[in-house]
Amino acid sequence: MAARAAYYITTPIYYVNDSPHIGHAYTTLACDALARFMRLDGRDVRFLTGTDEHGQKVEKAARDRGMDPQAFTDEVSTRFRELVRVMGFSQDDFIRTTEPRHKQAVQHLWQKLLDAGEIYLGAYAGWYSVRDEAFYAESELVAGKAPTGAPVEWVEEPSYFFRLSAWQDRLLAFYDAHPDFVLPESRFNEVRSFVKGGLNDLSVSRTTFAWGVPVPNDPAHVMYVWLDALTNYISALGYPEDADGLYARFWPCDVHVVGKDILRFHAVYWPAFLMAAGLEPPKRVFAHGWWTNEGQKISKSVGNVIDPHELIERYGLDATRYFLLREVPFGNDGDFSHAAMLRRMNSDLANDYGNLCQRVLSMIGKNCDAAIPRPGPIEPADQALLDQAAGLLGTCRRLMERQASHAALEAIWAVIAEANRYVDTQAPWALRKSDPERMATVLWVLAETIRRVAILTQPFMPDASAQILDQLAQPAELRSFQALDDKGALVAGTALPKPAGVFPRLVEDPAGA
Ligand code: MSP
Repeated sequence: MAARAAYYITTPIYYVNDSPHIGHAYTTLACDALARFMRLDGRDVRFLTGTDEHGQKVEKAARDRGMDPQAFTDEVSTRFRELVRVMGFSQDDFIRTTEPRHKQAVQHLWQKLLDAGEIYLGAYAGWYSVRDEAFYAESELVAGKAPTGAPVEWVEEPSYFFRLSAWQDRLLAFYDAHPDFVLPESRFNEVRSFVKGGLNDLSVSRTTFAWGVPVPNDPAHVMYVWLDALTNYISALGYPEDADGLYARFWPCDVHVVGKDILRFHAVYWPAFLMAAGLEPPKRVFAHGWWTNEGQKISKSVGNVIDPHELIERYGLDATRYFLLREVPFGNDGDFSHAAMLRRMNSDLANDYGNLCQRVLSMIGKNCDAAIPRPGPIEPADQALLDQAAGLLGTCRRLMERQASHAALEAIWAVIAEANRYVDTQAPWALRKSDPERMATVLWVLAETIRRVAILTQPFMPDASAQILDQLAQPAELRSFQALDDKGALVAGTALPKPAGVFPRLVEDPAGA
């Protein structure tokens, strides 16, 4: 058998200054769906997430709580692990930047950069935003604030610098050679123009606080939190020793999924650090958009932060996953609203997908002795539906290669709609008396279509899809994408369990809660 192709996907590592919210859940969910898709498609997947625990922002949050930073990060990091558990994410590793394996890797990388002459000692005098953990040039400030609206403070201190300015041409050449390095394309254009505008050397160490990885041989300095944090993507693979061979197998990364706010760190600084250390840059950085809540920017001061645990409690895990992945084209900004959630749950899930399964499985239960019916001759209308369902894998593969989960779901729902139309035009209930053999064929075609659809919805809605496949009595070994060919087709006579509804309809609370 041919070796399985490797697929490495990462989320950003989350700052532990605060509890997890919808933004964190969203990035990891998007990665989870991609990781599950690739696993089902036979890829050897490595999916990484974790927490970013150093830096001034985290140190300040610990101090505000009157806690030691390590004890504080231990506590908050647990909340992120808890979220990952509740959301059912399928990560293979969870890294914390306070772990020894990570610190060693960062110090090793630092030494390589130093040895290569890419880091030099100087002094920084300029603006810094603790909230963004970013340095800003005077010219970037807008009304005395960072372009993100975050407050800035004047910093003057000895600092090591990375020779970023020397990387402008090589970065631009790298972008030209890798036209899909950043997606969506509009974001790539922003990155290119930023780099074309000229790069300053980057301050990569701080001396005015201590919560970070110490600079080798100069412990007055801790490393800049972004140099520290970005390195998680390789430290989690065992870099530099690579005792388990993970680094050799999975680096360079297939895709770093990040929010648009942190694209510059990933698409400019990170490839420059790596190339300067003689390492390969990642293959892709995908930048997604931001969610608002009922049209409003989400912020703690407004008090409209969306807690993912509450969403799951109110709407259910699979419906929440479906909504977040389907409602907004991946890469765009999106708005979370109860009304939109209600529409998606009732129309796409309960009506379209749920009814299709329910109608077909209960007709089979009642009219075919609760077993997969035996199909007679296949007619053109049957073949047309089967062909559409069979075409889905290719379509979804093409879309998921470009992180377009929303479009894959759209394609799957087009087949669901087609199947519902087919039920209406074929009217199997009317065939029960007039032509039972034809009824059996129609119900087989429908059940087979549902099988293919349910295999493909697994990455997006693992639990609901599993329930549907259970109701079709599909064994575990027939649930990967390999089973999507005709060899996996439903076998007549297979006994089916009693069908049950999978997607609850959301009834609007009259109080409007
Ligand atoms: N620690 C850095 C990342 C280091 S990666 C080497 C960081 N952490 S963060 O916790 O502030 O943000 C993590 C992610 O959450 C970012 O990708 C950000 O875009 C995302 N989101 C935060 N709020 C969001 C929304 N309202 N909507 C969607 N995603 C948002 O940055």
